[in-house]
Amino acid sequence: MIEFDHVTKRYKSNVGLDDVSVKIDEGDFVFLVGPSGAGKSTFVKLILRELDADRGTITVKGKNVTNMSAREVPKLRRNIGIVFQDFRLLPKKTVYENVAFAMEIIHKPRKSIKKHVPQALTMMGIADKAKKYPDELSAGEQQRVAIARAIVNRPKILIADEPTGNLDPDTAWEIMQLLNQINQLGTTIVMVTHAKDIVDKMEKRVIAIEKGRIVRDEKGMYGYKEALADTTNMFDTVAVKKRDTFRAGFRRGGHR
Ligand SMILES: Nc1ncnc2c1ncn2[C@@H]1O[C@H](COP(=O)(O)OP(=O)(O)OP(=O)(O)O)[C@@H](O)[C@H]1O
Ligand SMILES: [Mg+2]
Repeated sequence: MIEFDHVTKRYKSNVGLDDVSVKIDEGDFVFLVGPSGAGKSTFVKLILRELDADRGTITVKGKNVTNMSAREVPKLRRNIGIVFQDFRLLPKKTVYENVAFAMEIIHKPRKSIKKHVPQALTMMGIADKAKKYPDELSAGEQQRVAIARAIVNRPKILIADEPTGNLDPDTAWEIMQLLNQINQLGTTIVMVTHAKDIVDKMEKRVIAIEKGRIVRDEKGMYGYKEALADTTNMFDTVAVKKRDTFRAGFRRGGHR
């Protein structure tokens, strides 16, 4: 479903990814772990062709992403649902409208929207919140909306970059149950996380990245002390988060 073949991505003075080869099969549930600045978000952005690789080949759903024309990129992204730590809902739209928007921008017929939005909200357990605005919801409810929006077009792949990072442990665990359910319905999931407890409990495949390289790939454990993973390179983290926020804002105004 997703394949990296000797992929290298460098930023001016930093290593993003360094000669990474890995294969994620259809239906897999994979955790991507590692210290701050390790290259996890770089990995995700390369899958989405938000970044270009310097070397190597990336294949997603049998398509070579590395040499894909700009015209084909929106189609690639349509096959991939995305969820972020900070939800990124549109504040002036209701829950229903937020989810419907993901279908409207790719010109899905009204009939299909009317059918699939309530289905996605029901699956996420928030059908009763359809008319609410994001600021009227708890963090956990907002993340459910974001997931409903990510899956409403039935993507084959769901990417989640620290989806439980802003949630308390109980709520985080509820969100994990929902992701598990989505995975069991056949969606391939790649989840970036620093949440040791969650990774250890889920017993899924864990790919660990450090300094742009895969240093571990096995079933089961998170393998880091939580505090260590969260505090290394604090300044980098802030810089990256700022950049991410900027990019998201840019995207919202653009083609997404
Ligand atoms: N746009 C950029 N320009 C320059 N360097 C960058 C850029 N984006 C990321 N980097 C650097 O590349 C490396 C990998 O960053 P990346 O965002 O992939 O890390 P991460 O594993 O997602 O970290 P975190 O856990 O903090 O989100 C870091 O050293 C980071 O500072
Ligand atoms: Mg990151």
